[in-house]
Amino acid sequence: MTTATSNSYTLDTLTGQIGPVVSDAEIKQLDAAYLLPVYSRLPITLVRGAGSRVWDADGKEYLDFLAGIAVNTLGHCHPKLVAAIQEQAATLMHTSGYYFTAPVAKLAEKLTKLAGMDRVFFGNSGAEAIECAIKIARKHAKSYGGPSKFGIVAAQMSFHGRTLAAVTATGQPKYSAPFAPVVQGFTHVPFNDIAALEAAVTEDTCAVLLEPIQGEGGIYPAHKPYLEAARALCDKHDALLIFDEVQTGIARTGKWFAYEHYGVVPDLLTSAKGLGGGFPIGACLARGEAAETLVPGDHGSTYGGNPLACAAAMAVLETIEEEHLLANSHAMGAYFVHRLNEKPFRDKLTDIRALGLMIGIELKAPDAKRVLLAAMERGLLMSAIGDHTLRIVPPLNVSQPEIDQALAILVGIV
Ligand SMILES: Cc1ncc(COP(=O)(O)O)c(C=O)c1O
Repeated sequence: MTTATSNSYTLDTLTGQIGPVVSDAEIKQLDAAYLLPVYSRLPITLVRGAGSRVWDADGKEYLDFLAGIAVNTLGHCHPKLVAAIQEQAATLMHTSGYYFTAPVAKLAEKLTKLAGMDRVFFGNSGAEAIECAIKIARKHAKSYGGPSKFGIVAAQMSFHGRTLAAVTATGQPKYSAPFAPVVQGFTHVPFNDIAALEAAVTEDTCAVLLEPIQGEGGIYPAHKPYLEAARALCDKHDALLIFDEVQTGIARTGKWFAYEHYGVVPDLLTSAKGLGGGFPIGACLARGEAAETLVPGDHGSTYGGNPLACAAAMAVLETIEEEHLLANSHAMGAYFVHRLNEKPFRDKLTDIRALGLMIGIELKAPDAKRVLLAAMERGLLMSAIGDHTLRIVPPLNVSQPEIDQALAILVGIV
């Protein structure tokens, strides 16, 4: 079946393809032949999505509880997000940073207010937001210390992205070792270990960089005293506290940003993933002196936060408010965890770590990959972290019946 989308393009609604239709086998061949092989893809080709559901090339339906790795905040193809993108694309898509535009200015105001910050820089991804935060911390330190004040203390098992500075910041050597020599000045300490943090932060530290909940590391929330200690150490040593909320931000945990659960306010806050609801955008938010550090010429990005990306992000933020998705994230997360604590799950799990709709399930058996594939076979998408942990990060508008359906699939296979 085909639908005309414009004078020259035709959308095949069965395959989700625009232009000449290629078969599923051909798609897989082209992918294998022409893409740099950096992803181990699962064996399905996704064609279209609606709400919490996606469909593959054979027409099979899945509950998408990975949501593009905590990105599809509003689910797939939410009409308000689609309309905002269509309207902005037909009006003004991209201009560069040379000019003022309304979508960028309005999003800057909205996001900084929601985040409790003063200013924002928009980029295209989480890694770019981290790069910006690192550059601010390094420059800011120049006014407080000598040439040796460039140390950045981060946590083991953290994840901050794939650019060279971001993989260096990431506390998992497998991501950075192949690309050595890495960026100077990073040290990694065990997460949630106050004594180790105290030992590592000195007058040569320019920043402490932490995720309030380690996402790629296995869904491990920080302890409140740990983040409080990080704040106090930064204050003592004139260092900036950076919270990486690329995964935890934008209502994922039931609050706009996870730091609000802790009452510990960072100087720099990174956001991406859920912010655009599927449209690429990243943000480095800053307050106080950190917000006054960069001057014209210090930083930039050709695409970063263009009118189209900002219109998409504004639609995401407004829809979260209009549809009360902070409350839904909190309530559905609590319901999910409540059900997982009941039999028969209770006996199969060693731990459930969750805040809102950021849920890590630790299996007794080192079986996460098998469970992931079996769930996919039965129509549920999630991700596995290591051998034991399943990560569940559904859209923030997920419903109780959808969670019941996911649990009914999981019950037979964990
Ligand atoms: C906490 C955190 N920071 C940074 C990143 C990198 O984001 P991106 O892949 O958009 O560059 C990720 C991605 O998973 C992340 O989880």
